[in-house]
Amino acid sequence: MTSSSRSMTPSNSGNIVAAEGWTPTSWQSKPIKQDVDYPDQAHLNKVLEKIGRLPPMVVPGEIHRLRQQLADVAQGKAFLLQGGDCAELFDYCAQSPIEAKLKVLLQMSLVLIWGARMPVVRIARMAGQYAKPRSKPTEMHEGKEILSYRGDNVNGYDPSDRTPDPERLLGAYFHSAATLNYVRSILAEGFADLHHPSNWNLHHVKSSTLRQEYQTIVDRLTDALDFMQTIGADPNANGAQASALSSLNTVDIFASHEGLLLEYEQALTRLMTDPANPSQQKYYNVGTHFIWIGDRTRQLDGAHVEYFRGIENPIGVKCGPSMKPDELVDLLNILDADKRPGKITLITRYGADQVDKYLPGHIKAVQASGHVVVWACDPMHGNTKQSVSGVKTRHLLDITRELSQAIRIHKQYGSHLGGVHFELTGDRVTECVGGSMELMDAELLERYETHCDPRLNYEQALDMAFLIAKYQEKQRGFSGVMSL
Ligand code: PEP
Ligand code: CO
Repeated sequence: MTSSSRSMTPSNSGNIVAAEGWTPTSWQSKPIKQDVDYPDQAHLNKVLEKIGRLPPMVVPGEIHRLRQQLADVAQGKAFLLQGGDCAELFDYCAQSPIEAKLKVLLQMSLVLIWGARMPVVRIARMAGQYAKPRSKPTEMHEGKEILSYRGDNVNGYDPSDRTPDPERLLGAYFHSAATLNYVRSILAEGFADLHHPSNWNLHHVKSSTLRQEYQTIVDRLTDALDFMQTIGADPNANGAQASALSSLNTVDIFASHEGLLLEYEQALTRLMTDPANPSQQKYYNVGTHFIWIGDRTRQLDGAHVEYFRGIENPIGVKCGPSMKPDELVDLLNILDADKRPGKITLITRYGADQVDKYLPGHIKAVQASGHVVVWACDPMHGNTKQSVSGVKTRHLLDITRELSQAIRIHKQYGSHLGGVHFELTGDRVTECVGGSMELMDAELLERYETHCDPRLNYEQALDMAFLIAKYQEKQRGFSGVMSL
């Protein structure tokens, strides 16, 4: 497909530019996976009508800015950090969990800016990451078959609360809006300054050699920040180093979630003026900045792909071992018909043992297709294991292995890893094994709190940033193996 796949229709307030044959409801005529069966359709419609009248949570100018930043990532001029809960809960819409998540994302991004000598684009899995795809629609509880938990915007985690309730969609809107509101306020008021590296505590790092290595990075980061303060950051400075340095002082954090419940996404899809071309109106998902298609809902002829092809937001696509290279190219041709750099972020998640089998084929297919994508590595979803204590866990060694292999393979094939995608929390949970705190399998049940997949805790999340930075600093290219 070419740019002729977008059509223009004149309207009173300007030309409407939309993908050929697409409307916010066109997904409804396609087969859909992971659909939710609501017992009361009239109730659902009433709620959706209400959401459709509520104001946008984000605006096209912000979406446009993120698209430009992701174009930089796609072209090797910036690095992407995306992270947050697997399943965000309505209960996390509270001061302390929001602050903890922002803190860890900001700290990680500082370390990454230092390591990559590039600006870092921060996207939180936050303010809307409520819906979860499930491998099975039901599960057994005390000998009875009940519906699976599908996320706080569908049903409750408590086994007695599994009937889908449309009011939860309204809950999703208001919890997202309240979360975003607090994030915007504290960032504007200098929250980032409170987390200056000179205040970081590295006592959790068990190995003294590793602690010393981290401390060296923190000291150099502190020097760089102090230097910036002394000379006064010049946001218009030219050159990669200067722009990386000046980005130490910018604190944009964008919101994202998996676009799973299409009724909800449709209600938040609005025709709005394109800030880059005010004579044109386009369709934006104004419920978040960045939205991605999960590995289970990316069928070429399915409802999700149909919905996603029509919105202006930058979008992510999860790519696992079942993605065929040809299918990937077909998908890009549908979702990125105009071949706009950074429009698509491919979030790869094969597993440490499979990345070398699948990633090269995907890279080669995309290179030949002419699409300029952001390649992000999600080293979490292909590395989930059963722990000895009987819960789902992930080992930092596997996570590190997938990540280091992804970096090496991209380099080997003339591509570059543009970013990382982690499931993490700012809290001291015990869900993943290993890291500098050397969390053991036997300790997992102490604070195992996730309602879905196991997340990196604060210390483990920082480990990942230090590791990548150390690596980027040492190599400015790849030749070795990362270790913790
Ligand atoms: C997720 O990101 O939580 C998820 C379900 O991932 P995937 O679609 O890659 O399995
Ligand atoms: Co997950």
